Amino acid sequence: MKPVEEEDYMRREVEKMGKNASAVETIGILTSGGDSPGMNAAIRAAARTAWARGVNVKGIMRGYSGLLKEEIFEMSKDFTKDIISTGGTVLYTARCPEFKELAVQERAADILRKHGIDGLIVIGGDGSFRGAQKLAAQGINTVALPGTIDLDIACTEYTIGFDTAVNTAMDAIDKIRDTSASHERCSIIEVMGRDAGYIALWCGIAAGAEEIIIPERYDGNKPKLLLNLIDGIMETHAKGKRHHLIINAEGIGHSYGMAKDIEEATGIETRATILGYVQRGGRPTAQDRVYASYMSALAVDLLCAGATNRVVGYRNGQYVDYDIEDALSMRKDVDEYEYQISRMLGRSAYTIK
Ligand code: ADP
Ligand code: F6P
Repeated sequence: MKPVEEEDYMRREVEKMGKNASAVETIGILTSGGDSPGMNAAIRAAARTAWARGVNVKGIMRGYSGLLKEEIFEMSKDFTKDIISTGGTVLYTARCPEFKELAVQERAADILRKHGIDGLIVIGGDGSFRGAQKLAAQGINTVALPGTIDLDIACTEYTIGFDTAVNTAMDAIDKIRDTSASHERCSIIEVMGRDAGYIALWCGIAAGAEEIIIPERYDGNKPKLLLNLIDGIMETHAKGKRHHLIINAEGIGHSYGMAKDIEEATGIETRATILGYVQRGGRPTAQDRVYASYMSALAVDLLCAGATNRVVGYRNGQYVDYDIEDALSMRKDVDEYEYQISRMLGRSAYTIK
C-alpha cells in the first residue's frame, strides 16, 4: 500500500470495501509494551471499524504474553463503550521476553489461527513492532500502531499518548514554577524519555524552562554538563533572574545529585522532582483521541484490503503506512533548529542586552 496521497483516500477505500470484500474475517487486537493515553481510543476505533466492515473482533489480553496463554475473547460492543476518555489500556499490557524466540512466535501464530484470527492489530512501541513483524512472517496479516508517550518512533511525527504526556508534564511544571518562584529556588524536573528527549523538549518549551537536557545532545560528560548548568544559572541570576527551571530527561537521570551539586556550587536552594509514571496515565487529550481513532481505523482498513507487515504513522499532515522493516530501519533526531530555539527562548530575556 502506498502512503496516502489524496485527501479522499479513506473514503474511496471505504467505498470499495463491501461487506464481503474484506481480506480478513476476524481481527485480534492487543496492546503491548508501555501503556499510553489514547490506546483505548485506538482499541475502540479498531473494533468499531472492523464491525462496520463486517469483520469479527477478538480482544487479546496482556499483549504477547496473554496471546501465548490464550487470553482471547470475543469482543462485545459493550467492551468499547465509555473507554474513549480513559487512559491506560482496557486490554492490559505486558512485556514478554520469550517472544523473541522463533518457536514461541510459531506457537503464537498457531494460537491465532486456532481462534480464527487472520488479522492482527498491535498497539505498542518499536519492540512490539518487532513482534508484529515476526507474526506477519508466520502468515498472520498484521498492522501495528505507534503507542508510546516517548515519540521515539522514526517513521511517524506523532505517537499515541505523546500529547497527553506532554500536557501532563507541562501542568506539573507550571505548578512547580509557582513554588519555585515563591522560594526563589532552582528546580530540576525530570520527565520521561529513556532514550528520547521529545517530552523534555516539548514540555520545556511549553513551560518556559531555561535549560532542557536531552539524551540526543548529551555526550556523557557529566562534569561538563554540570558546569554549563551552573554557569547559566549564575549568569542569569547575576542579571536578575530570581528562580530557575531545568528540565532533565529520564535518559540523563541523576536529578537529585544534580540538584545537590548545583546548590553547593551556586548557593541557590535547588530541588529536584521526578514526575515519573504520572505522565503515562490520565485522560487522553483530544489530539490523542482523534489521531488514535483515525490511525486505528486506517490500520483495520489496511487489513481489510489485504495488507500485512505494516505500521501506520502520521507524516506531513497525513496518515501513512510503511513496511515494518522499513519503519524500524528509519532514524530520527531532535531538530537542531528547534533545540537551539528552545535554549535561546529560555534564557535570552536575561542574557541579551
Ligand atoms: P515497546 O513496544 O513499548 O517498545 P518493548 O521493547 O518492551 O516495548 O517490547 C514489547 C514486547 O514486544 C516485548 O516484551 C516482546 O514481547 C516483543 N518484542 C520486542 N522485541 C522483539 C523481537 N525482536 N522479536 C519479537 N518480539 C519482540
Ligand atoms: O512508555 C515509555 C516509557 O515511559 C519510557 O520513557 C520509560 O523509560 C519506560 O516507559 C518505563 O516503563 P516501564 O517502567 O514500564 O518499563
